[in-house]
Formats: sequence, C-alpha cells, structure tokens
Amino acid sequence: MDNRGEWSSKLGFILAASGSAIGLGNIWRFPYITGANGGGAFVLVYLLCVFVVAFPIMIVELVIGRKSKKDPVGAFKTIAPGSKWWIIGAMGVMAGFGILSYYSVVAGWTVAYIVKGISGGLTVSNLDPAVLFSRFAANGKLQIFYLFVFSAMTVYVVIGGVKDGIEKAARVLLPLLFLLMVVLIVYVLTLPGAINGVKFYIIPDFSKINSHTILMAMGQAFFSLSLGMGAMITYGSYLPDDDDLFSSAFYVTFFDTLIAILAGFIIFPALGGAPTKSGPSLVFVVLVDVFRKIPFGGVIAVIFFTLMAIAALTSTVSLLEVVTAYLIDEKGMERKKAAIGAGFLIAILGIPSALSLGANRWLTRIGFLDKMDFIFGNIFLTFGGFMMCLFVAYKWGLECFLEHLSEGCQHVGKPHFNGWLKIAIYFICPLAIAILLLYLILTGESLG
Ligand code: PFF
Repeated sequence: MDNRGEWSSKLGFILAASGSAIGLGNIWRFPYITGANGGGAFVLVYLLCVFVVAFPIMIVELVIGRKSKKDPVGAFKTIAPGSKWWIIGAMGVMAGFGILSYYSVVAGWTVAYIVKGISGGLTVSNLDPAVLFSRFAANGKLQIFYLFVFSAMTVYVVIGGVKDGIEKAARVLLPLLFLLMVVLIVYVLTLPGAINGVKFYIIPDFSKINSHTILMAMGQAFFSLSLGMGAMITYGSYLPDDDDLFSSAFYVTFFDTLIAILAGFIIFPALGGAPTKSGPSLVFVVLVDVFRKIPFGGVIAVIFFTLMAIAALTSTVSLLEVVTAYLIDEKGMERKKAAIGAGFLIAILGIPSALSLGANRWLTRIGFLDKMDFIFGNIFLTFGGFMMCLFVAYKWGLECFLEHLSEGCQHVGKPHFNGWLKIAIYFICPLAIAILLLYLILTGESLG
C-alpha cells in the first residue's frame, strides 16, 4: 500500500482534483447550455444542483477513497467485503474507459486547432469555418491521428505517477489555464458588442426554466465535477488520513464552478450576443469565425485552443488514472505497463467515435460519439452516484461514514452539519438522482 503514492500537500490534491473537474465540460458545454436555457436563471439552478446534490456526493466519494486507500473496485471490496457492491466500482472503471475514448477525440480537436492556428490555417484561410470543420471531422486518418496524439499525452502524465505526474502537471497547467482565461476575458470585453453578449449571458430569463432544464443542470453538475465513476474515490485514496475532506471537496467544487462561469465571459462577449449554433460548432465554427474578424485573432485563437487543451488534459489524466489504479491495485500491474496498456486500448475504442463525424457513414448515422456520451457520460455517472449514496446510507452506515469523515473535519459532530449531511445522503441526493435517471432512460435523451 505504501507504494501507491500520495499527494504532496492539500494544495496538490486540490489542484489535481480541480484539474479533473475542470475540462471540456466547463469551457465548452456549460456556456452553451447556459446560453440556451435562460442565462443567469440557469446559473442559479445549476448552483443549487451543485451545492445541494453534487457536493455531498463529492464528499461521499472522497471518504470512500480515503478510508479504503484503493481504486474504485478495491474500495467497495475493502469497506464491504464479501458483498456485491464492488460492481459499482467496476462500472466506474468501465465508465472511465468509455468516457475517455470519446473525450479524447474532442480533446484531439483542440490540439489540431492549435496546430491549424499556428500555421495560419485557421484565421488566414479563406475557407468557411463550417466547411473547414466538417472537412476536418470527416477526415478519418486525421481524426485517428489526433486521438492517438492526445491519448499519448494522457498516458505520459499518468506514467509519472500521483505526485510526479498528475500533481506536477496540475501545478503547472491549472495556474496557466487561469492566466490564459483572464487574458482572454479582458481582451474580449474590450470588443465592440461585448456588452450584448454579457447581457445575454447574465440576465436571467426564468421563462426558460422547467423540469427539463433542472435535470440538465443536474446532469451537467455531475459530469463537470467528475462524479459517479470513482474519479474522486481514486483521487481521495491518495489523501492522508488527517485531511479535512469537507474543505477539500468545497474548494474543488468552488473552482470548478468558478471556471465554468468564467468561460461564459469569454464565449458570449466574443459572440456579442446569443449563439447561433450549439454543440461542437459553437467553439470550432462560430468562435473561429469571430477570431477571423477581431484584431490579433490568430493569436487569440491559439490561446483559446491551448486553454481548452489544458483543461481537457487534466481531465483525461483523471479518467485514465481510474483505470490505471484499478490495474495496479487489483491486478498487481506495474504503473507504466498499466497506463500504456489501458491508454492504448482506450484509444482503439475511441476509433469508432473518431470516425462518427463524417468519416464513416454508418457510424455517423447512428451518432456513435453522442451515443457513447449518453451511455457513459450520462447514464453510468448518474447511476454510479445514486448507488454510492445508497451504499453509504444503507450498507456502510452513516455513522461509520461520519466517523471517518470526522478525522480532520472539525464540522462533524455539530448537529446542523450532521443533520444536513444525513438528509442529503439519505433522501435528497438519491431522490433527485433517481428522478434524473428515470428521465434519461424514459426519454433516451442526452443531457449534453
Ligand atoms: N469533469 C470533466 C469535464 O467537465 O470536462 C469530465 C470528466 C472527467 C468526467 C473525469 C468524469 C471524470 F471522471
């Protein structure tokens, strides 16, 4: 157990876990969903979902991880030996596999767009950005190439281990991400029409809030905070016993939410109003069009896609770490072999997603990448979160859970704190997630 690795400090953990949480979900998905669902009104609903439903689950995952000091499968085996609860951990490892496979495809686009940006192919070219993107998306060889490039970057960091790989990368990349964001926000706010974008983003339109929006906010909170698949169990397993898990969970939740909200202050002022397109097009088409029209657009484009690549990398690293930790803890594999082997297999699994944007007709027609996102990014995460609550509430027992949380957390024992956590874990979280899950399954609709 000694050679599993540990974060060098609380800050190291907060940066690494925030790196996992802050990803494409924040920079690309959050602003778009917010824009399409009532602006400021959606942000309020989102904040409610984050702090009422997702935050307690973040604590649950960290406690399970730190108590067991194991990967998600080993964690349930350690806390509930002889039971079948380890299946929840196994589903988490599968979700890591599944999400990473398609997430790396989109992450690969960011690297491709950095390269295009530097070579001038993005802003100097006369080709319509929509045509540029669809040609790129339909080029199967290029898609697979960038998928493998990004997978190799992820594997490289994970091979370095907990402290010298993941934490070190986060220590360099997250401050850089923040700096680039500030530069971009300051710049786009000076553009003509920026104020219209800001107004569109923050003025609440409560008429757009309905049950669908609320469920969308909850799904987004789960995905954005990397919950439900054991990423936080794994990262929590590298925490020392005396860490105050409550404050650690709070910082990670806070930073993730802050970056999501700030991302909107890049996208909307740049657009100068409501987005005309959604999904991949928003960033890879509409923004590219904007970059062509503004002064220093070429440089700004490179900065923007670098920002996205950084956010994506610290997230893909956490996805691969879940699978790697499983192979190390449960199968006794060496870290290097585990990371390379898993990374390679996952990249192979990513090929159908990479070919589903025009390169292969059949995969494109069924929308393979979107289907993967629906199954792993929506269903698996919400189901995992649901089962983890049930595990703590009805199998492990809240008293045992609180006892472990109390090591390092001064709040435990205070009636209002215990009362709040109990109500959240017994009722609010499972109920809210059950509704979301039922909705997802009945409508078959992806929340992305
Ligand atoms: N939180 C990441 C994002 O917002 O892009 C995605 C993610 C990473 C989900 C790690 C799940 C996970 F375990």
